[in-house]
Amino acid sequence: MLEKIKATASFIKKRFNTNPEIGIILGTGLGGLVNEIDIIDYIPYKEIPDFPVSTVDGHAGRLISGRMGNKEIIAMQGRFHFYEGYSMKEVIFPVRVLKFLGISNLIVSNASGGLNPDWHVGDIVLISDHINFFPEHPLYGKNDEELGPRFPDMSKIYDERLRNKAKLIALEHNIPVREGVYVGVQGPTFETPAEYKMFRILGGDIVGMSTIPEVIAARHLGLRIFGISIITDSGVPGEIVEISHDEVQKVAMKAEPKMTLIMKNLIETI
Ligand code: HPA
Repeated sequence: MLEKIKATASFIKKRFNTNPEIGIILGTGLGGLVNEIDIIDYIPYKEIPDFPVSTVDGHAGRLISGRMGNKEIIAMQGRFHFYEGYSMKEVIFPVRVLKFLGISNLIVSNASGGLNPDWHVGDIVLISDHINFFPEHPLYGKNDEELGPRFPDMSKIYDERLRNKAKLIALEHNIPVREGVYVGVQGPTFETPAEYKMFRILGGDIVGMSTIPEVIAARHLGLRIFGISIITDSGVPGEIVEISHDEVQKVAMKAEPKMTLIMKNLIETI
């Protein structure tokens, strides 16, 4: 595994010739941040050795090297979901590669269903914690100490300083933001009303099908993590309507400029 990670990182390093501090993973319908990147070069995932290839609409599937402000960044436009059939090791492989390219910060975005009855579709949520409901753990199996410890601490997954900076940026730009707990599930079904209700009772504010595997891997690697979500549909009793992937993408794309503005400004302060 470690050999593969290093080989892929070295392939990318040769192509890009960069030293990024910040890695970015862009979620469903949230690729717009790419327009804010001064793109130096990119590689389609299918050309990267041992990289999985994304199969979902709305995920372009390329690795981008570029600059935002005075920062070198590397961005994944499109991520790998467990529900697509990838193994957990495949889902988290790119995060490990990014670490070996030199990043110390990981920024992740996603679309989610709302569980908190005081929040609304279109709201932006800064992720403060998570509940892992994936049926398999991304760190299951033999541990490699070169990647991280056997039993990684999860008491402070999402970096408070980055979150506070994001809150200030949002305030300065008059963008309301929420802060809460992301529940991660396998999917690919959206939840039944009873399931949304259960996840709320269990302590969740939002629910989605991504992010947690990558974030656990990132924490294991010792990366600083910032997570941000757009509520694309409601799981609140009385507000639930039929939902589709198209609808999720539409809502995400509508709220995206505000999220992008927060991310862009945050990256410049890192
Ligand atoms: N549930 C799970 N994942 C999601 C949802 C949802 O309601 N909306 C966007 N991703």
